[in-house]
Amino acid sequence: MGCQDGGGTLRTATVFPPHIGMEATIRTSILDIQKMKQRGERFAMVTAYDYTAAQLADRAGIPLLLVGDSLGMVMLGHATTVPVTLDDMVHHATAVVRGSTQALVVADLPFLSYPDAGRAIDAAGRLMQQAGVQAVKLEGGAVVAPVVRRLVDLGVPVMGHLGFTPQAVNQIGLRVQGRSAAAAAQLLADAKALEEAGAFAVVLELVPMSLAEVVSKRLSIPTIGIGAGAGCDGQVQVWHDLLGLYDDMQPRHAKRYAELGKAIDAALRAYATEVRDGSFPTPAHGSGMKAEVLAAAIATADGTTT
Ligand code: KIV
Repeated sequence: MGCQDGGGTLRTATVFPPHIGMEATIRTSILDIQKMKQRGERFAMVTAYDYTAAQLADRAGIPLLLVGDSLGMVMLGHATTVPVTLDDMVHHATAVVRGSTQALVVADLPFLSYPDAGRAIDAAGRLMQQAGVQAVKLEGGAVVAPVVRRLVDLGVPVMGHLGFTPQAVNQIGLRVQGRSAAAAAQLLADAKALEEAGAFAVVLELVPMSLAEVVSKRLSIPTIGIGAGAGCDGQVQVWHDLLGLYDDMQPRHAKRYAELGKAIDAALRAYATEVRDGSFPTPAHGSGMKAEVLAAAIATADGTTT
């Protein structure tokens, strides 16, 4: 029986009810993530928005997949995450769950889908029951803590999100948060409020590194940083940033581990050239047919059968 905690080894467990000799892979759980913090093991989370990406990330042993509402920007072409709907989230989350077997899949509750516990329960219910995710993420601190508490009490694992909260971009702008003493104190209080409300982890986005480190030390639950430095317990990156899918967008907090945008461009140009010059397809890309069978078919079609 293997066990993977972000290292890429297959996790398996006997299924319940225990069919004789049968094993199934199991997903990373929120308890696994919390144990990683206790053991001082850093872990990676990456966004995924479709079946293919989920398969690739799962195969690479990434323990946490985030169906982020950033999909509004990188998959749907919106300028912000604000227009993303719950239907959009359910659609993409369903594909990510289908494409993964080992990762814990977390999906964002979109803008204005959690103004109170009742609406949050409906939204989380669709994401967990219809799409099949194992946890939801929502943005905000002490203000959303009562909603977090209610969800957690009902069995919904909740991840918090502090610092730059993209759904509030029209209020706070796209900038590092928590720079002043007052803002940093508020962020510390918000992080504590989320922990006390039962959140199992908190994303810290665009937060000064020293502040993120203090938050990470003060919380017993893991922090997951993006543009918040190495003092966080885990890191999250957006799929398109990490893989270099856009030439024109390179956020400072992102590291490009590949240049897939350039590779895709070259592949598409080569394909179009080969179609134009006739070098694709070759006989190896198609299937043959006996000449006499084709001749008989033509004779039948033309009504010239003897
Ligand atoms: O939507 C998203 O991708 C996110 C990450 C940037 C943390 O919330």
